[in-house]
Amino acid sequence: MKYLIVIVSTVLVLATAVATVPGASRDNEPLKPIEPYKVTQPAKVELGKMLFFDPRLSKSGFISCNSCHNLATGGVDNLPSSIGHKWQLGPINSPTVFNASYNIAQFWDGRSKDLQDQAGGPIENPMEMAGSHSLAIEVLQSIPGYVKIFKNVYGTEKININDVTDAIAEFEKTLVTPDSRFDQWLKGDDKAITKTELAGYELFKGKACTTCHMGAAVGGSLFQKMGLVKPYTKDTKTLGRYEVTKQESDKYVFKVPTLRNVELTYPYFHDGSLWDLKDVVKTMADIQLGIPVNDEEADKIVAFLKTLTGTIPEVSIPILPPSVPSTPRPQMD
Ligand code: HEC
Ligand code: HEC
Repeated sequence: MKYLIVIVSTVLVLATAVATVPGASRDNEPLKPIEPYKVTQPAKVELGKMLFFDPRLSKSGFISCNSCHNLATGGVDNLPSSIGHKWQLGPINSPTVFNASYNIAQFWDGRSKDLQDQAGGPIENPMEMAGSHSLAIEVLQSIPGYVKIFKNVYGTEKININDVTDAIAEFEKTLVTPDSRFDQWLKGDDKAITKTELAGYELFKGKACTTCHMGAAVGGSLFQKMGLVKPYTKDTKTLGRYEVTKQESDKYVFKVPTLRNVELTYPYFHDGSLWDLKDVVKTMADIQLGIPVNDEEADKIVAFLKTLTGTIPEVSIPILPPSVPSTPRPQMD
């Protein structure tokens, strides 16, 4: 038995050594660096940013995309579930808009195919911004400053919802967070992460977290059952991908979330039920993999996860064109 342990630990040490040769090419790692976004349409991005920050897209004139996807707090609201129109508590945790362009589809259940398709949703969701596309267009169309900018970007004075969501999506594509310490390491800088953090990454791979959390976004690329090997019992309200496909096997299946900037995007899971990353790591190991992760291992994995915090793009507050007397007024009901 003793020998066996020695052999196993030697093999593990060797495996770790092989995986961490200094300066070796890291092209074959399951995780990839986030690349900076090259802006090709600056005027459209600027318009999208204005719309992202403009609360007048909501019925109350009070809630903007940034209310629930605050760019100052990791692109989320740090609440278990979002607060929308008339202080209504939504059913689900708000995912980050940072690196959302990497997602295979948008929303926890993937019901939107891309960012443009997604952006139309919250404006008319009664629990969120509670307006309608026609009301949002009426508001924007009444504001001379917007009409001028839309004309400049889209070549027409007639504002339409496609152009609104197109501009928002173009802005969201710029919300990538490159250059995390982990990415520096991936690109060959051995000193970018500590030994403990590297050990955490080896555990993350070794425990097979990378079967679901992989690629540049460390997630976002597939749907998986929450509670793959042991049922997740906390949330019984949301059925996940079943809502889209109506297939029994899709019950409790959710998009695997990105782990980029996960240090900032608490609380965790689609129901926002856990606040401590260490608890999250242990829950994942238990119900997704059915393997134990001890305290020390969990600490190391958490240390690794924190190296995924990238450079949040600098976003200057846009100055929005003022409403005029004919602009529809905020409605509180
Ligand atoms: C009231 C809070 C709230 C507002 C306002 C809001 N969102 Fe969201 N957003 C959410 C929640 C909650 C989800 C997750 C819903 C779900 O998956 O069913 C979400 C999902 C998303 C996603 C998908 C991310 C992913 O990983 O799947 C994107 C992108 C997004 N919102 C962008 C926007 C944009 C753009 C606006 C403004 C037009 C906006 N949101 C307004 C709360 C909000
Ligand atoms: C079988 C696929 C799978 C495996 C394996 C897996 N995860 Fe997950 N992970 C998910 C899914 C799906 C979610 C979202 C679950 C939900 O909220 O309902 C998630 C959520 C998370 C979250 C929370 C992110 C957030 O923003 O809410 C963290 C952190 C995480 N996983 C880390 C890990 C770690 C560490 C491991 C390895 C011990 C791991 N995962 C293994 C599928 C997986």
